[in-house]
Amino acid sequence: MARVDLFTFIHKAIRTMLYETGKQLQTADVTDAAELDAVAGAIRSTLRLLDDHAEHEDSDIFPDFKRFDTATIEELEGQHVALHAKEDAVLAALDTVYNTQGDEAKLAAGDELLRAYNEMSAYCLMHMSHEERTALPISIENLTDEQLHGIHAKIESKIPPEVMGQWMRWIIPSMNFHDMRTVLTAIISNAPPAVVDNIGMIATETLGSERWTTIRQRIGV
Ligand SMILES: [Fe+2]
Repeated sequence: MARVDLFTFIHKAIRTMLYETGKQLQTADVTDAAELDAVAGAIRSTLRLLDDHAEHEDSDIFPDFKRFDTATIEELEGQHVALHAKEDAVLAALDTVYNTQGDEAKLAAGDELLRAYNEMSAYCLMHMSHEERTALPISIENLTDEQLHGIHAKIESKIPPEVMGQWMRWIIPSMNFHDMRTVLTAIISNAPPAVVDNIGMIATETLGSERWTTIRQRIGV
């Protein structure tokens, strides 16, 4: 039976978020105020969720994992610090776009924003793959599924409902059918009806009602 995996599902969601926000940014006309505001909102939301994710790893996963492999976990913590600096560079570049006057200069500032975003995104992608090659096997080899479930539950309990809704909008469309069967069966069989209804609503919105109905029928929930 598949072991409890603290990294792969959430990393799939983060990759979708990075790709989609990157696509929105590289196609946005930053000289159009409404398009700039829309993409700025997407960038800020993406960076908030990235910080949220790193914070959960730093406070609820890594301290416990250090006893198994201190050097690897300290390297991953260092990558979180470096990633945060790259996120700050994105926000600074975004401010510059807002503060730059004139279409030509604004477009040039937009190009710089895109480069800063792509550097942050590439670093984050590399970092997550590194975690899956290092921290994931550390977790599987040293902790039981019950202990891993406990860590997962502790992290989930700290996420406010509104933020959980934001995560679910990235998580649901990022899974293959087998991921969905694992994740949704667990959620739907344990969660209160209001949470299940909310997941159904987000799934309909992000997958379309036809695909969501097919998936529910295949899973049998
Ligand atoms: Fe991380």
